[in-house]
Amino acid sequence: MKAGVLENNLFERNFPISLPIVIGTSFPGRPHSLYLYIMHYRSLGTTGIQVSEIGFGCMSLSTNSEKENIDLLHQAAATGINYFDTADLYDKGMNETIVGKALKEIRHKIVLATKVGNQWRSDGSGWDWNPRKEYILKAAEESLRRLQTDHIDLYQLHGGTIDDPIDDTIEAFEQLKKQGKIRHYGISSIRPNVIREYIKRSSVISVMMQYSLLDRRPEESILDLLQQHTISVLARGALAQGLLVNKPAKEYLDHSKEEVARAAKAIAAVSGTYREPSQTAIQYVLNHPAVASAIVGIRNSKQLKEVTPETVALQKEEIKLLQRSIRANRYEQHR
Ligand SMILES: NC(=O)c1ccc[n+]([C@@H]2O[C@H](COP(=O)([O-])OP(=O)(O)OC[C@H]3O[C@@H](n4cnc5c(N)ncnc54)[C@H](OP(=O)(O)O)[C@@H]3O)[C@@H](O)[C@H]2O)c1
Repeated sequence: MKAGVLENNLFERNFPISLPIVIGTSFPGRPHSLYLYIMHYRSLGTTGIQVSEIGFGCMSLSTNSEKENIDLLHQAAATGINYFDTADLYDKGMNETIVGKALKEIRHKIVLATKVGNQWRSDGSGWDWNPRKEYILKAAEESLRRLQTDHIDLYQLHGGTIDDPIDDTIEAFEQLKKQGKIRHYGISSIRPNVIREYIKRSSVISVMMQYSLLDRRPEESILDLLQQHTISVLARGALAQGLLVNKPAKEYLDHSKEEVARAAKAIAAVSGTYREPSQTAIQYVLNHPAVASAIVGIRNSKQLKEVTPETVALQKEEIKLLQRSIRANRYEQHR
């Protein structure tokens, strides 16, 4: 893994330094004034592309002003985040437009990922699933235009069912790849039966899926299966929308409110003074080698500054302690 470094713009990116230095903190109990960002990078499948261990999930940007979002995306890039995840679905394409505008200047330095498959109805009342080749080819052109780029680094099918015309869908992605409009493709899916089909039939290089201490379904078999095929996992939901960090406990998947509270307590206990709880929750998913990046729904600079400074990886005992705090759940459907 390589490290890229930036310290409040005092140092150039990729300044070679091996020791994390934290002087002061703006978080309770930590030093303040200077932050040291040492972003680590991992391989994205077999592509040779290096992606930051923390990826920026752009869906959470929807509530901010355009200026706030552009500033935040610039700040994120300055910490060494090079992976940005959006979708044509988010804010009816506006999310891609903002991401394209914000990252245009540094397009060559970033790995731009977007998604396709959810077609907005012409009256704007909602969207319908459309994995057909003809639609994907057309939607890709729209995404390229909104993103102000001539290629998408990772184009992902935004869902998928076992009843889809899978070969037709794959043909679309392969054609876009040949045309140079996309570099690689993947799927975003939590359905083991769909994931297995794409592993068998296509050249996907990644699968985006929900994975966290509260959603350990991928641990049953899918993470290991993808690792065996050198297909990277892009883990979303590592913070369980904040439930593992600072949100009041409530039911989540098949976990009761009490179980969620217990998992959040374990995260806090394991964090100690070494890490922010959000960093511990992220380190939990990064512990599996199939995971290339944890795609975090960062909404403001406070959250960005919490998750990006250098942190200590979880020790085996800490992983065990976290896992003992919560039952491992399993996929009940689409197995
Ligand atoms: N099917 C799919 O492909 C799919 C589905 C969902 C998401 N995604 C992608 O994955 C990304 C992340 O998913 P997600 O938003 O569901 O999961 P998440 O990262 O677990 O949750 C995001 C929420 O966590 C809170 N948060 C962020 N940073 C925090 C921090 N440092 N401390 C405490 N709370 C923090 C924010 O809540 P507040 O806003 O309340 O502060 C934010 O909206 C999305 O942005 C999107 O790009 C893809």
